Amino acid sequence: MKNVTRIDKAVFPVAGLGTRFLPATKAMPKEMLPVVDKPLVQYAVEEAYEAGLRHMVFVTGRSKRAIEDHFDTSPELEAELEAAGKTELLELVRSIAPADMACSFVRQPRALGLGHAVLCAAPIVGQEPFAVLLPDDLMSGPQGGAGVLAQMVRQFERTPTCILAVQEVPREHVRRYGIVAGEPAGERLTRVSRMVEKPEPDAAPSRMGVAGRYVLTPAVFEMIRTNPRGAGGEIQLTDGIARLIEAEGVHAYRYEGRRYDCGSKEGFLQATVDFALKDPQLGPGFRDYLKNLAL
Ligand code: G1P
Repeated sequence: MKNVTRIDKAVFPVAGLGTRFLPATKAMPKEMLPVVDKPLVQYAVEEAYEAGLRHMVFVTGRSKRAIEDHFDTSPELEAELEAAGKTELLELVRSIAPADMACSFVRQPRALGLGHAVLCAAPIVGQEPFAVLLPDDLMSGPQGGAGVLAQMVRQFERTPTCILAVQEVPREHVRRYGIVAGEPAGERLTRVSRMVEKPEPDAAPSRMGVAGRYVLTPAVFEMIRTNPRGAGGEIQLTDGIARLIEAEGVHAYRYEGRRYDCGSKEGFLQATVDFALKDPQLGPGFRDYLKNLAL
C-alpha cells in the first residue's frame, strides 16, 4: 500500500527580485548569495535532502538561470578539476546534485505572491503532501541533531496535517510574519485555530511567527486557487493554509534550532559570522580576528 505520509517533493519559491540586496542582485539571483562559500538555495536543498526528500521543485523567474546551472552538471569544470587531480573539489562540485536527487524547474510568470508561487508547482507536486522551503530563511538545526525540515517531517508522520515551523518573534516584528494562534497539542506542538498574514501588533492573535518551512497537504492548492487576494494585494500562502484549519486541521511546530533571516542584511551578516565561526578550517583564525577587533 502507498504510504500516504511519505514526503518526496520540496518546493523552493525562488522567483523574488531581491531588491533589498541591490546592487548585488541586479544580475544575480539573491538565492545564489553565498554564506561563507555556499549559496543560500543550496543550504535549503541540503536541508530537504537530509529530511529524506529527493525531488526538488524550483519556482523560478526571469534572470534565475544561475540556479538551474548550479544544480546541473558542469562538464567543463569537472573535466578541468579531474585533469588537475583536484579530487576533493571534484567531489564537492558533484555532491551539489547527488545521483538520487531530481530537480524540476517551473516559472512563475508574474510576481503575484507566495501563494501563487506555490500554486505554480501544483502540476509537478500532484496529489501528495510536500514541503515548502523559503531559501531566504537559513535554518540551522541543533548541533549534532536533525535539521528543521527533518524535525517537521517526523512530526507530520505523527500528525499528518499541514505543519508550520514557528518561533516566537518580538511584538514589533509581528507585521513581518504569518502569525498563528491555537491550543497546545504537545511539547512543541500547537493545534492552530487562527492564522493571519502580517498583522499589526495590536491585531496579532499571538507572537508565534511562521518561519519559511512548511509541510503541506495537496488540498492547499485548491484553497489558494479559490482564495481572494490578501495582504499587500498578493495571493498569500497563509490565507490558503488558514482555510485548511477547519477542513483538515493545521499544526504549528516550534522547531529546535535557529533561523537566520537572510532576506535582510543584518540576518545575512549574522549567518555569515556564525557559519564562518563553525567552519572547521576557517573558524579558529576568524575567531582570533574577531577577538582582536577594537569594537
Ligand atoms: C513569507 C510569508 C510569511 C512568513 C515569512 C517567513 O513572508 O508570507 O507568512 O512568516 O515568509 O520568512 P515574506 O518574508 O516573503 O514577506
